[in-house]
Amino acid sequence: MEGLRRLEYRGYDSAGVAVVTADGISMAKKSGKLANLIAELAANPLPASMTGIGHTRWATHGGPTDKNAHPHVVDDGKLAVIHNGIIENYAPLKADLLKQGYTFVSETDTEVAAVLLGDIYRSLTEVEGAAGSEGTGALLTEAMQLAAQRLEGAFTLLATHAGQPGIVVAARRNSPLVVGLGDGENFLGSDVSGFIDYTRRAVELGQDQVVTISANSVEITDFYGAPAQGKEYLVDWDAAAAEKGGYPSFMEKEINDQPEAVAQTLLGRSDIDGKLILDELRIDAEVLKTINKIIVLACGTSAYAGQVAKYAIEHWCRIPTEVELSHEFRYRDPIVDEKTLIVSISQSGETMDTLMAVRYAKEQGAKTVSICNTNGSTIPRESDAVLYTHAGPEIAVASTKAFLAQITAAYLLGLYLAQLRGNLFQGQIKDILADLAKVPAKIAKVLDNAEQIKELATSMADTRTVLFLGRHVGYPVAMEGALKLKELAYIHAEGFAAGELKHGPIALIEEGQPVIVVVPSPRGRDSLHSKVVSNIQEVRARGAKTIVIAEEGDESVREHAEHVFYIPETTPLLAPLLTTVPLQIFALALATAKGYDVDQPRNLAKSVTVE
Ligand code: AGP
Repeated sequence: MEGLRRLEYRGYDSAGVAVVTADGISMAKKSGKLANLIAELAANPLPASMTGIGHTRWATHGGPTDKNAHPHVVDDGKLAVIHNGIIENYAPLKADLLKQGYTFVSETDTEVAAVLLGDIYRSLTEVEGAAGSEGTGALLTEAMQLAAQRLEGAFTLLATHAGQPGIVVAARRNSPLVVGLGDGENFLGSDVSGFIDYTRRAVELGQDQVVTISANSVEITDFYGAPAQGKEYLVDWDAAAAEKGGYPSFMEKEINDQPEAVAQTLLGRSDIDGKLILDELRIDAEVLKTINKIIVLACGTSAYAGQVAKYAIEHWCRIPTEVELSHEFRYRDPIVDEKTLIVSISQSGETMDTLMAVRYAKEQGAKTVSICNTNGSTIPRESDAVLYTHAGPEIAVASTKAFLAQITAAYLLGLYLAQLRGNLFQGQIKDILADLAKVPAKIAKVLDNAEQIKELATSMADTRTVLFLGRHVGYPVAMEGALKLKELAYIHAEGFAAGELKHGPIALIEEGQPVIVVVPSPRGRDSLHSKVVSNIQEVRARGAKTIVIAEEGDESVREHAEHVFYIPETTPLLAPLLTTVPLQIFALALATAKGYDVDQPRNLAKSVTVE
């Protein structure tokens, strides 16, 4: 249950556990949050057991009901199965199994996989049962291999069978699974937080693999039984890092972790002369010199980090940089070749849309770099190179510290390319790195003023819609601020390029309409600053309630704003690392005022491992 609690952020529509004892499988499952299952187990405890599987669900096929919750128990109550992903060929498989006389109680694709596995297992026992190999686990392993060969789509399947107590068998394709190596015990989890309380020794599994664990053994094969090796590694954070640290929510903790997240992501990646040292970026320097296009692939908040990076990379490296939503990229027949550098940005490293887009780009011959926050996850494993963000585990579903760390890592990548290709002098790079090194302390200063932002947000608890305006690097920040508000407070919010307002959206402005404006530094390209101040006047003249994020010392905005939140001055291209923070706090506080769960917002999951 502790493991499930730590994994709950990945999906919380329902939860269930199954344990194996001499009397067979005992199972409990409940729709809703893990707390419902905990209550159920308190009222009706399962028998003691040392072997079991557990699952928290993000509903894909079939609503979040008790019946659709996992585990699915089949084969006369002897086989329990849990599953992450989508079995794309479940319909023909189900039709075939129905013809064989099987019945189903749920609407899920998972139950189809479970019944198929049970059918194969049964036929194996009829053939091999005489050999008495039941009990060694071999039968369940072989059944899983044969079942996995029949399944299409993305799946992590775990199974345990009453006939073979003491083992759990799993198969994975296009969906996360990692092994935890304990002392006299072994674990499986969608990510390491499932067993971080018990061991930090982990083994990453490859594509199309089956793993059989018992208390003292871990055996890995491919789907056809050929032995395979997993790569062991030590998890680079401990259980404490995945706790709230005294904050009321993971989200509040992670917003306050941001100075450290940026500092850790910068740590050790440049020397005192301002020379970038990105050892893990294992792509030949000569290849990087030939790159003539960069495509950033990401989703959601990570895509906004890519949007910010675009401005910096193009400015420093003069390489055309496109930012593509992963799920759109591979369906638009993109122009990709060996001179294209793909930069995927993913906190979890398991976002299926982004994984599939990266694979597609690799097939077109592109080199791929993963900016990722999760050590050993699938996207960095399948990329040519990785630039890990060191934000620490991000548990809250709404991404905050990973966003700033992603932007920081993308800046480092841009500066590295500029250094390699000679677009910037070493002194220029050194100056930018010096500015970046000051950012953590400046974020801390913004956090010191959090109460002022919280008060305003709390007073706006019944707001029904908020518009966000930004320009240049402030434009993706405006969109990220809108996304945070949508995700957390469930109210309509929209981020616009400030210059776009007069081309239509200004019709939305009416008396009292809250408009949050991210104002560029007056010290940058001044025309941009004055244009945004004009945009504030345009909406104010039509009754908008203007809330402005501006640089310390910028007095010109005061007369046009009902509320001004000042942030420390910094190099304009680095401003998103500061201007984002008040918007995160605003969304957190408004959602809190509405009494919402800011760590696990409705309908969401932390890692979207289905397309
Ligand atoms: C962030 O607040 C959202 N939860 C979501 O947009 C997220 O950024 C997106 O799903 C991408 O996730 P990833 O970074 O793990 O790939």
